[in-house]
Amino acid sequence: MKIAVIGGAGYIGSHVVRELLDFGHEVFVYDNLSSGLRQNLFEEANFTHGDILDVQKLNEFFCVTKPDGIVHLAALKAAGESMLLPEKYSVHNITGSLNILNAASKHSVKYIVFSSSAAVYGSPKYLPMDEKHPTEPENYYGYTKLAIEQYLQWYGKLKGIKYAALRYFNAAGYDAKGRISGLEQNPANLIPIVMEAAIGKRASVSVFGNDYETEDGTGVRDYIHVSDLARAHRMAFDKLQGSESFIVNLGVNSGNSVLEVIKATERISGKKINYQITGRRAGDPAVVLANPALAKEFLGWQAESSDLETLLETTWKAYIR
Ligand code: WQD
Repeated sequence: MKIAVIGGAGYIGSHVVRELLDFGHEVFVYDNLSSGLRQNLFEEANFTHGDILDVQKLNEFFCVTKPDGIVHLAALKAAGESMLLPEKYSVHNITGSLNILNAASKHSVKYIVFSSSAAVYGSPKYLPMDEKHPTEPENYYGYTKLAIEQYLQWYGKLKGIKYAALRYFNAAGYDAKGRISGLEQNPANLIPIVMEAAIGKRASVSVFGNDYETEDGTGVRDYIHVSDLARAHRMAFDKLQGSESFIVNLGVNSGNSVLEVIKATERISGKKINYQITGRRAGDPAVVLANPALAKEFLGWQAESSDLETLLETTWKAYIR
């Protein structure tokens, strides 16, 4: 299949591109390199440097590449920042996605696989969270992902584009074969922050609260390996060819606490990681866990590389490469 990966130079996007290439797809990457990196590009995938806010360029890209399907991962993703700068998230995430949808309709794209997020649910009302869990995002970033899912639904109805919205839980890890080397710049997520502390790039890690109702008092999250995520994107295209549009969670239903992540990284890296307990971060739930049953039943997907050891080992290797 001819597949355009929008945001294909980013952390998750580059893993998706690698997976699609490995399975014989013809891949085109469109990325503005605002957080994506040139070193994450592959020779076999034709690259266009462009912004999703540049409607003309986007249309030219679709006109030249004529993709059957697209993966849309081009978005801002810092939940905290989205509460301070909602306008920025409206423009980049919502307007940008509408530009993609309009260009996709105009150029008769059949399938869209969309990078959605567990952030659409907001605080867990029950655990593990399945796709029927109420969608009440607690940050504007999560709202933009939910709004885009709704646009996808309308464009599906009105323009006949089939879509898969993949709701990722906490993405982590790196390609086990070391083919992706670009590290996230100024990370806001726990695992890259812990890695930066391990390589000495930062002095210590702030642990946001140790008084949660969890075993060690620190927050528990469902970490999912980026290569498992990438595989789900490829499988989503296979599935869409014979099914209706769908929304699935991608997670493991098994969690790790902040302290577990720090301790396991110390063991794997052999480095001492300094940390201090600070106050809770606003809006952080104690525990977030996915119910991935639907992904298994419907898509035939399940995590294979998302144990903490593999997640941290592959990440550590990327940091010391
Ligand atoms: C994990 C745990 C923190 C940093 C975010 C988005 C979510 C999704 C995934 C994309 C929590 C703790 C963190 C630090 C810490 N993104 N922590 N010190 O908040 O679960 O999810 O990324 O869709 O929408 O909100 O991930 O990695 O920030 O935090 O103690 O310096 O680590 O409190 O318990 P989060 P995270």
